[in-house]
Formats: sequence, C-alpha cells, structure tokens
Amino acid sequence: MIKGPKGGQDIFKKRRKSLVEQTCDGVVILFSHPEQIRNHDVHHPYRQDSSFYYVTGFTEPESVVVLNGSSFTMFVREKDPARELWDGFRYGTKGAEQYFAPDKVYPIAEIHSVLPELIGAAEKVYYKLEENKENDKMVMEAVEKARRRQGRSGLGMPTFVDAKQMIGELRLFKGPDEIENLRKACEISAHGHIAAMKICKPGIFEYEIEAEIEREFRRRGSQRVGYGSIVGSGPNATVLHYVFNDDECKKDHLLLVDAGAEYGYLTGDITRTFPVSGKFSAAQAKIYSTVLKVQKDCIKFVKPGVKFADVHLRAIDGLVEGMLELGLLRGNKKDIIEKKDYLKYYPHGTGHWLGMDVHDSGLYNKNGEARKLESGMCFTVEPGLYVPQDDSGAPAEFRGIGIRIEDDVVVTASGCDVMTSIAPKEIAEIETVVGQSKG
Ligand code: GLY
Ligand code: MN
Ligand code: MN
Repeated sequence: MIKGPKGGQDIFKKRRKSLVEQTCDGVVILFSHPEQIRNHDVHHPYRQDSSFYYVTGFTEPESVVVLNGSSFTMFVREKDPARELWDGFRYGTKGAEQYFAPDKVYPIAEIHSVLPELIGAAEKVYYKLEENKENDKMVMEAVEKARRRQGRSGLGMPTFVDAKQMIGELRLFKGPDEIENLRKACEISAHGHIAAMKICKPGIFEYEIEAEIEREFRRRGSQRVGYGSIVGSGPNATVLHYVFNDDECKKDHLLLVDAGAEYGYLTGDITRTFPVSGKFSAAQAKIYSTVLKVQKDCIKFVKPGVKFADVHLRAIDGLVEGMLELGLLRGNKKDIIEKKDYLKYYPHGTGHWLGMDVHDSGLYNKNGEARKLESGMCFTVEPGLYVPQDDSGAPAEFRGIGIRIEDDVVVTASGCDVMTSIAPKEIAEIETVVGQSKG
C-alpha cells in the first residue's frame, strides 16, 4: 500500500493553514468517522469523514485531530500486530508522525488526559456538536476539566462554533487538485452510465444495470460509489430516492439511472434517463425534450455573479412552460409559480454543491443573502419531470413517466464547464448507445 496521504502532505498542510487563519482564537477538534461494525465482528467498508480527511489525509477510524493555533496534534490507534492480522495495516503513532507531519502524536487511549491540556484557556472550541453523542460527552468533559485546571480564572465556558461549517466553506471552493480528482470521478461516472446504457434491453433487471455501472466504476479505479445507485424503470423513476432496484425493465419503459463514482475522495453525480428498448416513444420524447431544453438552458445560465438560487428559479420557469405546453397544468405561468403548483411534477431542487460528499458542504445563503456563484464552485444541474402513474389529471400518455437529467459543472471565470459531458443525453445519441452490447 502507498503510505501517507495520496499526493503528499502539502495540500493538507495548506488546508490546515487556511483553517487556522480563521480559528487561531480557539481550538479545533475533529473526530474521524465511526467504524460500522455489525454483530460485534462484521466490518463494513470504512470511509473517513470528509472534513477530517480534508485537513489530514488520514484514513483510519478511532482518530482525533486537534488544531491549537498553528499546532497540529493527532490521536491515533497504536500499532497492534494481533489486530493488524485481522484488519490490516495501521500507522500507529510512529507512522502517523512520519507520514502526516503532526507537531505531536498520541495514542488514542490518551485522549482523555491530553485533550483538556490542549483546550487550556481557549475561549472558543471549534467542534460540531450533536453529530456523535459519545464524542460530545468526551469534549464536554475535557472542556470542564480544562476550566477546572485554570483555577479561579473567572473564565466562563468557551463558545462552541461548528468547525465543520467553517471547513465546509473552504471545501466549497475547489482547488486544482480537487478539480482534477472531481473531473476524474465525473469521467468514471459517465463511463458507468455508458456501460449501463449499452447492456440495457427489455427483460433485464434493475439490479443488473446497477451491477454493471458499479463494475465499470471499480474497473476504472473508483474506490466506491458516492451514494447508493438509483436504478428505476417505468413508474419507479417517479420515486425520487428509489432504492429497491429489483424490478424488471420492460420494453415500453424508460429507465432512470442516478449513480456516481467516487475518486480520490470526490464524487460524481449523474442522472440519465433512457428508453429500455433503445427508442423513445413520442410521449417519452416530448417530456424528455422539455427537461433537456431546460437543463441545457440552466447550464448556459451559470457564470460567476449569478445567484445559485436563480438557477433553480430559471429551471422552474422553463419546466412550468413545458408543463403548460404538455397539458400537465393549465392556467397562467405566473400564478402557477406563485402558488407552487409545479411541485406536483417537479418536487425537488435543481442542484446542490458537489465535492467530497454528494450533497457537499458550503452555505447556500451567506450573510442573509442568496449565494452568488464564484469560480471553483462545483454543483449539479438536475431538473426533472415526474408524472405519477395514478395522476388522472395528466394526459394518459404521460402517466408513470419520470425523467431527470443531471450533470456536474465547475464554475469558470466566464461560465461553467460540464465535467460529465461524455455521458450521452441527446435523444439521437442515446438511441445509438442503448442496447449496443445486448447479447
Ligand atoms: N444522487 C442524489 C442527488 O442527485 O441529489
Ligand atoms: Mn444530485
Ligand atoms: Mn443524482
């Protein structure tokens, strides 16, 4: 295995420096993601907490980092040959010291005695409360101990500030290394979608498509999926977070696939919707073209200075126009938008920040105002239309059709770049790819 953080320590040092510039008046405490162990000895694949990884590059569980001014302290698991025989390599204190450049490193077992010292007389503790009750308890006890050790100081309890929100603001702006990994994640994700399209044919099961897409992700070096793949055929596509993936794909149905590969701790998030048979019916093509037109228009609209919330408003505007043209809704566009009648067919937002987490961190409103886009921000553009199967008010030909088209963009100096563009989305393109490798 490669030792130390991928890409070296410099990027993590730089991130810690940016964080410390904002938190030097206190102490930052970050916990690793808890391990998921079922029935005491069944381990599930482990992934480090994104913010913890962002500032350390350290991928082991049962670890804590503390930034105290410019001093960086790690608490890690000790080496343990017996445990390593079962669970594999761990750095131990010496390895952590060698590869992660902390100023000080302790065995995790010493955290109870050392953490109060590190907190000292800090007036602010940057820590995310209520994510893990046990960690909260440990931090609170350490804070109380630290205060007692100050003697009669007159100091009150420190203020708690959400460290993850601050890191989230740093994570929102992707640097060159992150964009490189995110592009790769998007490229792998797109190839997974192409592979899924190619093997699709009537009679295939949704889980076979899921397996194909995830096989392609892994084959291309993705470590894991960024989120549970959604593979919904026919009316299942109208269920936004469909998880069963166990139905047969029927000849007259569309298949909605929402799946993204993670690469280097960054994830893609793509949705494509295509006909199982390889040919859109007239009704399917009508709805698909409406969503595609809106999606392309929203992408064109993206540039620095535009409010992120306005991308959603633009999608609503275009989709409502489409709903009127398709006969899904009747009336006046302005009234429909005001009364939010469109929610019946378009119940979700048009995008979210994208990065280490699929719904990535970063504020959507800042200082009470809708956030304006800046170069280096990455997000999804994912309008859709979903006509419930039992919607007797909708033209019969559209009932049970669910369509979403989702791409990932990075804001550039003058507009945006679509990182997922190799996944086909034009009708003619899709119709040539779907079923290409049916055996
Ligand atoms: N795949 C989750 C989402 O699109 O938000
Ligand atoms: Mn998304
Ligand atoms: Mn998605």
